[in-house]
Amino acid sequence: MQILTSSVGRKILMAITGQLMVLFVVVHLLGNSSIYIGADGINAYAKHLHDLGPLVWVFRLAMLSLLSVHVLFGIQLTLENSAASPQAYAVKNYRKATFASDNMIWTGLLILVFLVYHLMQFTARVTPDIVQGVDTAGRYDVFTMVLTSFQKGGIAFIYVAAMVVLFLHLSHGIQSFFQTVGWNNDKTLPVITKLAKVVAVVFLVGYSSIPVFILTGILSK
Ligand code: HEM
Repeated sequence: MQILTSSVGRKILMAITGQLMVLFVVVHLLGNSSIYIGADGINAYAKHLHDLGPLVWVFRLAMLSLLSVHVLFGIQLTLENSAASPQAYAVKNYRKATFASDNMIWTGLLILVFLVYHLMQFTARVTPDIVQGVDTAGRYDVFTMVLTSFQKGGIAFIYVAAMVVLFLHLSHGIQSFFQTVGWNNDKTLPVITKLAKVVAVVFLVGYSSIPVFILTGILSK
């Protein structure tokens, strides 16, 4: 299949898988925000999700496929690009490079490391900080679990640092999607670049607010 063998085809697949994962990041942020309602909010939300049963696994497999394509092609394209242009600066000046655009591979790999840690922590629940239990309604107590973990400064710090890395990756990644699929021109590019930054800032502030508010005691039982 040419889409898999040509570098343009692989870039398009990376752009599409990336944007589908951005949709997940939006939905996950909305879901996580239910923590501001309190235990009743996030525990009920988590129960609804788990009650979906086998659908949860369909969703997880779909996410894993998206992630695998995105990561593997990302590594491959980076290796190919550096082999093709050892003096990278000589071919880059057609578009302004930024710290974020220059370091997509590193921010991407750091997000992958964060994701493994995050899944071991809140999904597999095998990290030492995890407090397991049920609430008065018999639901899994996600509220207490998240609260107890983020009351530890080191864990809250890891999350905020990871959200800064996610901000860098998405502030370039979202606008790059529009370039790759060709939905931009000289007029719209500055608008798209700004919008991508705004969306990335919303993720940074939205996700980071949870560990920060918990660590500072603003969000508590
Ligand atoms: C403050 C930030 C975050 C909090 C508090 C948080 C919280 C959670 C919790 C509680 C779960 C387990 C849900 C359950 O099984 O009941 C979860 C799962 C997950 N989170 Fe996060 N999350 C955060 C940031 C992120 C980010 C930035 C990403 C992606 C880049 C992410 C990706 C995931 C994924 C893929 C799952 C697994 C979903 C599944 O069960 O299949 N999370 N998160």
